[in-house]
Amino acid sequence: MPDSSTNPIQTLQVDLGERSYPIHIGSGLLDQPERFTDHIAGSSALVVSNTTVAPLYLNRVLTHLDQAGIRHDQVILEDGEEYKTLAAVESIIDRLIEQRHDRKTTLIALGGGVVGDITGFAAAIYQRGVPFIQIPTTLLSQVDSSVGGKTGVNHPSGKNMIGAFHQPRCVIADTDTLDSLPQRELSAGMAEVIKYGLIHDAEFFSWLEREMEGLMRRDKALLAEAIRVSCETKAAVVAADEREAGLRAILNLGHTFGHAIESAMGYGNWLHGEAVAAGMVMAADLSERHGWIDPSVRQRSIELLNKARLPTGAPAGMSVEQFLDIMAIDKKVDAGVIKLVLFKSLGEAFVSDDYNPQLLRETLGNNRLET
Ligand code: NAD
Ligand code: GLY
Repeated sequence: MPDSSTNPIQTLQVDLGERSYPIHIGSGLLDQPERFTDHIAGSSALVVSNTTVAPLYLNRVLTHLDQAGIRHDQVILEDGEEYKTLAAVESIIDRLIEQRHDRKTTLIALGGGVVGDITGFAAAIYQRGVPFIQIPTTLLSQVDSSVGGKTGVNHPSGKNMIGAFHQPRCVIADTDTLDSLPQRELSAGMAEVIKYGLIHDAEFFSWLEREMEGLMRRDKALLAEAIRVSCETKAAVVAADEREAGLRAILNLGHTFGHAIESAMGYGNWLHGEAVAAGMVMAADLSERHGWIDPSVRQRSIELLNKARLPTGAPAGMSVEQFLDIMAIDKKVDAGVIKLVLFKSLGEAFVSDDYNPQLLRETLGNNRLET
């Protein structure tokens, strides 16, 4: 792996023709305002953050906007997955209308994936679409949710059931913001990092096996490297299949199982990354039951997820029927059949509806956390 410590800021590109945009990764980016003010289309902006992140970082962003002569307003949302709702989107739209923001205004999402998804969706629908900028402040949002243009909110019956594709103008991933992140949230983000190794990059998976202790100690150079490799994979997949006609679905490894866990346990009780971690083990288990992969894939996944302090099984109390009922309303259902991301090998995932339903029931009935 190349050493990113010699180059504090790395810039990748998401190649989508006229909607291409940069992802800046590194330490000190919040003190380089031109990285984002250059992407503000008009002369006004609305910054969306939440009650946890705003006290930490909002003033720095507002000061930069003042210095650049950009008129700004703000919306501070309640913190939590349970607030990722249409009501939150409405509160942003209300403020935009009250403060007479026009079609050239730019929305700025300052926070984790919840703030990013809500803000991106508000930007997608306000006056049929205004520009937006992502300033992700969690590991999960820096490696995944801020890149690729999936925006949206939850419905009581299912995760991310309401949304739109809307690409940001740029992504600013300042690794210094991870200093204030709670340890449990660092772990949750690490689940999506491990995902990239599992679906696409066995060499990266081995690197993570070697470096996980340093990553969990928040070694800055290691974190920047993990974010760079993750974003590189995500950017390449999104550039190849922006609207998830095919390939992009591999990014959903563990997510169909995971969304069922999040939904069954009540939004916010299991973190998204925790549920994805359990879901990835279930995907490995089902692939192994079909004889598609060697047992070592599941075993190595469990060991790495353990090192990242993540759950490797579903909640003990969830029944097979509960799983199947919730999975049946997932977005990955096609003509009544649940599509799943499964494994050909470590580092190679594929999307399948051609699995044995009895083996799926066995996977759902096993893989439980001990109580
Ligand atoms: P989150 O946004 O809830 O953030 C986690 C917690 O950390 C929150 O309490 C937040 O206030 C706090 N926080 C954020 N930054 C902080 C910082 N720097 N210091 C201290 N605390 C901080 O959760 P998340 O894990 O970032 O994102 C999860 C969401 O992302 C889910 O809703 C999931 O569905 C979505 N998601 C979307 C995509 C996509 O492609 N759009 C991809 C993956 C996940
Ligand atoms: N997190 C899955 C995707 O962006 O497609």
